[in-house]
Amino acid sequence: MVTVRMHELHDNRYRSLVKSTVSNQALGLNPLRPWRKFDTDMRTSSALRRLQRAHNIDDVRELARRRLPRFIFDYLDGGADDEYTRGENAKSFAALSLMQRVLVDVSSVDTATTLLGMPTSAPFILSSTGASRFYHSQGELAAARAAATSQVIYGTTSSAMFSLEDVAAVGDGPRFFQVYVLKDRSITGEYVQRCKAAGYGAMFLTVDCATHGNRERDLRNRISIPPKATPRILWQLLQGPSWTLDYLTHTGWRFPNVEGYVDDTTRDDFGSVAEWFADQLDKSFTWDDAAALCSDWGGPFVIKGITSVADARLAVEIGATGIVISNHGGRQLDHAPTTLEVLPEVVDAVGDRVEVLVDSGFRRGTDIIKALALGARGVLIGKAYLYGLGAGGEAGVARVIELLKGELERNMTLMGLRSIDEITSDCVRWRDPRFVR
Ligand SMILES: Cc1cc2nc3c(=O)[nH]c(=O)nc-3n(C[C@H](O)[C@H](O)[C@H](O)COP(=O)(O)O)c2cc1C
Repeated sequence: MVTVRMHELHDNRYRSLVKSTVSNQALGLNPLRPWRKFDTDMRTSSALRRLQRAHNIDDVRELARRRLPRFIFDYLDGGADDEYTRGENAKSFAALSLMQRVLVDVSSVDTATTLLGMPTSAPFILSSTGASRFYHSQGELAAARAAATSQVIYGTTSSAMFSLEDVAAVGDGPRFFQVYVLKDRSITGEYVQRCKAAGYGAMFLTVDCATHGNRERDLRNRISIPPKATPRILWQLLQGPSWTLDYLTHTGWRFPNVEGYVDDTTRDDFGSVAEWFADQLDKSFTWDDAAALCSDWGGPFVIKGITSVADARLAVEIGATGIVISNHGGRQLDHAPTTLEVLPEVVDAVGDRVEVLVDSGFRRGTDIIKALALGARGVLIGKAYLYGLGAGGEAGVARVIELLKGELERNMTLMGLRSIDEITSDCVRWRDPRFVR
């Protein structure tokens, strides 16, 4: 059995296990094609009704929990070790109160802004998350379409299950591409060229994955990619019939952004491509290499996965345009600080020289307002939109965007804020610890 690390298959102990799993292509040959349209689009009235009855991200999470087999939901939802940081991320927002101003003309409130030179209708970004077809057959395409329709920024990644060109082709929404650095540097060089040709507005380099986090939910579920037909997995597949139908009626899982670099003989085997990718991730990568990639790209360049002032300063030194303060949603180093904790000191140190973005734990419009008030230019969301994808494909991601935008606009209205620029440090106050529960 293999524990799926999807985008972070770095560890030898999983590799041989990945190889031994059943062929996804074989499973994909199931003759259930007539159901494809129904399940791909998730546009049946009952699916849409359920989404409309989801009034916040937690409701959408619950829909995803019900639709996805347990091992898939846990992969999406889980954190590292004791999930301490994952839990603290969500709680950290309670340490701040929102300060409202009244009797302001708020008949018009605008959530639009510009991030990394890209105009966006809201100050949040759908972050890069690997292997999105785990949650829905349309994966990255569904998320990219929903983002483009709402004109919010979407990020895809080298471990995506649709090629960066296919993602770019869905529409003219603002978007970025995220890389991990591979031992064969010529591949990263090719990504730079391909992203320029496909019109990506920014390149992100994720730096907090020198090895994978220890996701114990995945270990307990003993999951494998593709799913191995064990009694336990079959039972979970039966409990998620909509997901299972979607999985069985679509082509097998692939990593098209990397498979072109893999040996011809193993290219069609998903497990072998994952193994090759894991082996390519370079633990010896340093700031000098990041500087070289930054200059190669030449456009907006962002270092994702910073949690200290020292590293934020180094990002400035190598010429980055932006940084993402991130603990990877609590999936990597457990007991890393919550990002709200370090945001003010990082903004203080480098906020006048780079765009400071932040993620990890954002679920509410009020969370976004708090981060912006502490000096972030924008916020990234990961699990929140993946819950939408798992709950209802493109329509589910669209619902998540709608919910977050609606909350943002409503709370800005209640606070007397008419534009994103008006969100300043006056909008928040640290709570007296005696009152924080
Ligand atoms: C299932 C999953 C897969 C992820 N894959 C990647 C990835 O391939 N590259 C990356 O930079 N970050 C990845 N992330 C991290 C997100 O980009 C983001 O930093 C994180 O999810 C933010 O925290 P949140 O989930 O609490 O919003 C992933 C996150 C999740 C939940």
